[in-house]
Amino acid sequence: MPIKNQTFSTSTVKDQALLVGSEKNSLNELQELTLTAGGSVEGIITHRLDNLNAAHYVGKGKLEELKRAVETLDVNLVIFDCELSPAQVRNLEEMLDIKIIDRTQLILDIFSLHADTRESKLQVEKAQLEYMLSRLTGKGTELSRLGGGIGTRGPGETKLETDRRRINDRIHRLKKELQDISRTRNVQRQEREDPMIALAGYTNAGKSTLLNQITRADKPVADQLFATLDSTLRRFKLPGGKQAIITDTVGFIRNLPHQLIASFRATLEEIRQADIILHLIDSSQENVEERIQIVKDVLNDLDVENKISMLVFNKIDLLSENRKSFLTSSYPEAHFISARNGAGIESLLLSLEEIIYSKLVEVSGLLPYEQAGLIEVIHKRGSVENEEYSRNGILIKALVPEDIASRLENQFIEQKKKQKKPLR
Ligand code: GTP
Repeated sequence: MPIKNQTFSTSTVKDQALLVGSEKNSLNELQELTLTAGGSVEGIITHRLDNLNAAHYVGKGKLEELKRAVETLDVNLVIFDCELSPAQVRNLEEMLDIKIIDRTQLILDIFSLHADTRESKLQVEKAQLEYMLSRLTGKGTELSRLGGGIGTRGPGETKLETDRRRINDRIHRLKKELQDISRTRNVQRQEREDPMIALAGYTNAGKSTLLNQITRADKPVADQLFATLDSTLRRFKLPGGKQAIITDTVGFIRNLPHQLIASFRATLEEIRQADIILHLIDSSQENVEERIQIVKDVLNDLDVENKISMLVFNKIDLLSENRKSFLTSSYPEAHFISARNGAGIESLLLSLEEIIYSKLVEVSGLLPYEQAGLIEVIHKRGSVENEEYSRNGILIKALVPEDIASRLENQFIEQKKKQKKPLR
């Protein structure tokens, strides 16, 4: 199905791509990724997942359709919305006589394009080499692909010796260098006394824009995926005058290549070290629930489940009244802001300040269902460590400001000891 030709140029090499995938949202995203990588999308072919072929991924009939599309459309690249095995890439390239790349390679390519500091360049190179290594099927297997463009940037197969041992040596050196950078960063981190807030979220959620709004900085903002690869740290004043640090990190996406998560661990470490995580969501997207889950999954991989995390819906200036009231009733505990026009930011900062500086009290008890409305207040002004719905009520364990603790004490059917636990 040919679609309207769209281009977004970030590089001098323009690839004309045909996309192949099975799921609508994921394909839309693959389209965005292709544009961000500097390619244009000339057509999209969808396939069903129940007829996959081990040798060439799609079934025989679909392969014929692909062949015809490659011949009729003006394309020089086919991008599959999945992870292909090296053998599948080889077979497809032979059968279709065209360059084939998969989603992982495309994402790695964008990261390579956007890496602009020493650390992020090293991290991307390491991820790409690990990806290449996983693709080497035999000793000395040829990795070389002629030409430039999507899928060939980064360490560059032409420059690089593709011998397994050499790749391993290089990875080893990169790891060492990254460890040194990370060590310096740890020392700096220990010297920081101000509370730290980390922005996390799906790519393009508006993290850089919010950081700019809050700190009045002018970090570049781009309507591209993965514009930010480094953790930027900025100091700013909370409404009461006390200082805090806010950090913006790499955005997340579904099926983020695991090589990237591993390589960017040091950058993502800022999230692990933060006192509070602001989970930013682009509320103008249709599939917010799915995106929230993807970000939560990556955060779980980073072992930060027990951190105080606040859901913040951004871009409310783009919402219809209906959609806005649907989201506010579906996510009563969340904050709603527009990083672009500043709406809701003052109230967000006040909540942050309250969580950081009010003495939080640990409460735990059984809340009767008639008082379930209080759960929303607990989520908004404190942090919930455990929430279980039982026959007699909601078993809850949370850190909350003192006034909420007193309200809860009056409502709990049974309760355990409470203990003061200031965050700062
Ligand atoms: P990555 O670096 O890809 O992770 O993106 P990010 O989360 O840092 O997003 P960024 O701040 O770069 O914003 C992405 C796009 O959304 C830009 O075009 C912004 O101008 C736009 N944007 C951000 N916040 C808002 C908002 O509140 N309203 C509207 N309408 N657009 C916004």
